[in-house]
Amino acid sequence: MIAILGAMPEEITPLLDALKDYEEIRYANNVFYLAKFKDKELVIAYSKIGKVNAALTATIMIEKFKAQKLLFTGVAGALNENLKIKDMLYAESLVQHDLDITAFGHPHGFVPGTSIFMKSDGNLNVLATKIAKQKGINLKSGIIATGDQFICEQSKKDWIKNTFKADATEMEGASVALVCESLNVPFFILRAISDEAGGGAEFDFDEFLQSSANISADFILSMIEEL
Ligand code: ADE
Repeated sequence: MIAILGAMPEEITPLLDALKDYEEIRYANNVFYLAKFKDKELVIAYSKIGKVNAALTATIMIEKFKAQKLLFTGVAGALNENLKIKDMLYAESLVQHDLDITAFGHPHGFVPGTSIFMKSDGNLNVLATKIAKQKGINLKSGIIATGDQFICEQSKKDWIKNTFKADATEMEGASVALVCESLNVPFFILRAISDEAGGGAEFDFDEFLQSSANISADFILSMIEEL
């Protein structure tokens, strides 16, 4: 079983539209879509926004639906100025930018028993790079900083970018990484840029959410073919 997770309906409807045939299972105040694609069993869901929702849904996909790999598809705000709207990047590592016990002398993003940065699966990243090359897609990679905040203010953007050397920001990736790492499930986090996370990012987000989500979902489907 392979899990495909998004945060918002817009991030998974391109997949459901492409697959057409799926079963819906209601569980834990959410809907899980079971489908087959090229002989592969898939469980697809959108978690709803934020780290807790994403952690809950990823855990259910693994523990209840027995997912052995998890691929995340969605959009992100760019922190690195080389990333433009509709560019795609995958996370090599992820950090929770809003995890803060610095009052006790710890660095931002750290709590005892965890590491600041979590690394994604090398094999899935290599596969993605190979597919991107075959398709002539300029797939980038980098550090994704996750937090329960929509970033649309230059000072906040600069702080996250400088504190974590992060390339993009979103609201789920690092929590999914933590769940997958804890449960030994290889994971891949893909994001297409919807905005640049500075002033007015909310307008770009609204405008580019669907088109960027489509780009990410398309790529995830081509990865499934090769898994
Ligand atoms: N997802 C897409 N754009 C984002 C932003 N600017 N902040 C947080 N999550 C996002």
